[in-house]
Amino acid sequence: MPQRTFSIVKPDAVRKGFTGAILAEIEKAGFQIVAIKKQSISKEQAKGFYAVHTGKPFFEPLCEFMSSGPLFLMVLEKDNAVADLRKLMGATNPANAEEGTIRKKFAGSIQENAIHGSDAEDTAAFEIGYWFAGHELI
Ligand code: CDP
Ligand code: MG
Repeated sequence: MPQRTFSIVKPDAVRKGFTGAILAEIEKAGFQIVAIKKQSISKEQAKGFYAVHTGKPFFEPLCEFMSSGPLFLMVLEKDNAVADLRKLMGATNPANAEEGTIRKKFAGSIQENAIHGSDAEDTAAFEIGYWFAGHELI
């Protein structure tokens, strides 16, 4: 059964001109891009998105970073999309990311790590609804 997940090409990767290469990896791995939009987000919007991390030491700098420049918000679809995207992304810290993963190829640091992907099906549903209206998901 096809499943949807939510992803972001983060501001570091957009700034470095890696958007196209990252989208190519995603498509090569068999994902359909259901919806995609480029926008800049506010720090408040970032805080709501990452609310689960409220209070952690990296929370404030993370929200500063996510609001530091344009990013690409995306809804992706394929069988087993949530788990398969996490695998394609690689570990949060690129120093620990497996060879061939997006973070290994494109991430600069544990914070500026190029891509976001939902970590579970319920998280994906929350994250898709946070950024996309129903009429945008055709
Ligand atoms: O993105 P992922 O699910 O792999 O990691 P997370 O633990 O949910 O953390 C969310 C984001 O916070 C990461 O992708 C990093 O950008 C950032 N982070 C950080 O700056 N320092 C950490 N020690 C952990 C996460
Ligand atoms: Mg996470």
